[in-house]
Amino acid sequence: MKRIFSGVQPTGNLHLGNYLGAIRNWVRLQREYESIFCVVDQHAITQWQDPADLTRTTREVTAAFLAAGIDPEACVIFHQSAVPGHAQLAWVLNCVVRMGWMNRMTQFKEKAGKHKENASVGLFAYPALMAADILLYKATHVPVGEDQKQHLELTRDAAQKFNNDFGREVFPLTEPLILGAATRVMSLRDGTRKMSKSDPSDFSRINLTDDADLIAQKIRKAKTDPEPLPSEIAGLETRPEAANLVGIYAALSDTSPEAVLSETGGWAFSQFKQALTDLAVETLGPMTAEMARLLAHPDEVDAVLRRGAARAQTIAGPVLDEVYETVGFLRV
Ligand code: TYM
Repeated sequence: MKRIFSGVQPTGNLHLGNYLGAIRNWVRLQREYESIFCVVDQHAITQWQDPADLTRTTREVTAAFLAAGIDPEACVIFHQSAVPGHAQLAWVLNCVVRMGWMNRMTQFKEKAGKHKENASVGLFAYPALMAADILLYKATHVPVGEDQKQHLELTRDAAQKFNNDFGREVFPLTEPLILGAATRVMSLRDGTRKMSKSDPSDFSRINLTDDADLIAQKIRKAKTDPEPLPSEIAGLETRPEAANLVGIYAALSDTSPEAVLSETGGWAFSQFKQALTDLAVETLGPMTAEMARLLAHPDEVDAVLRRGAARAQTIAGPVLDEVYETVGFLRV
C-alpha cells in the first residue's frame, strides 16, 4: 500500500513556496495515495510562538489545505498535538537517533543562528519528531520541498536503525517525493535565498493571504536583471532571480521551465512580470477567497480537524502499540 504523510508548520505566513513546493502537489497525489496531511503545531513551538497566533495559524493552515483542494473526505487532515502518538514515538526515536546525525542538520544551524546555547532542546530534536510523524503512519512517501531532503534522510536512517536494533521490520524506508518546477522557490528580493516565512521583508514572498494588488506590487518590485528572457534553459544558469520567476511561472501553469522559455524567450521582464502577475492572481485569487470564507467559519475548520484526528488515531494507535511492544515496554 502506498501512503503519503506530509506537514506544514503553523508559523507566520503561508507563502507561494509552501504552496508550489508542497500543497499543490498534494492535491494531485491525493487521488493516487492514501493521504495524511498534518498541521505540525508541536514543531512550531520549537521556536517561541505567541499562543493566540498559534491557534489562529493552525486554523489558517488547515483552511489553506482545504482551499487548495485537499478533499477532507478522501484524506486525513488534522493537527499534530491532537494525536499523542507523535510525541510518544518521538521520545522512542530520540533514543534511537544519534547526536552525530543531529549535529549535521543544516536547518538547525540556520534556525539556531549564532547562539546555539540559547536554542531550545526541541529545536535540536526537531528531526526526530518529524521522523515520528512519518513513521507513526508507516508512510511510504513524503511529498515536500527540497529543503526537507536532509530531514527525510534522517527519517530513513532512524527507521533502519530501529529495525536493526530490534531485529524487526517495523518501519518502511520512506521515499521523498520532490516534484514540480518549483521545489525550491527563492526570495523575490534575492535569488540566492529561499522564500521563507521568517524573512523580515514581506516583499521577499507572496503570501497566500495577499490580495491581487499586493501580488502585482510584489512581482513588479521583484529583483531581476536587465537582460530579456533567454529562449533556452542554459541561459538561466547564472541568473538566479530570472530562473526563480520562470520556475514559479512553470509551476503555476503546470508545465516546465523549458516550455515557458520556448514561449517567452526574448520578452522583456516588464512583459513577463505582467503575465506572471495575471497567472498568480488567477491561481491564488480563488484560493485566498475560499480561505477567508473558511476562516469566517472556524467551526467548519475545527470539525475537519476533529474528525481528521480521530481517523489519524485509528492508524497511529496500532503502530504505537507495535513499537511499544517491540521496545519491551510492559503492557499491563
Ligand atoms: P515548513 O512548514 O517549513 O514548509 C512546509 C512545506 O513547504 C515547503 N517549502 C518550500 N518549497 C519550495 N520552496 C520554498 N521556498 C519552500 N519553503 C517551504 C517545505 O519543503 C515543506 O514541504 N519540517 C517541515 C514540516 C514537517 C513535515 C513533517 C513535513 C513536520 N513533520 C513530516 C513532512 C513530513 C517544515 O518545517 O515545513
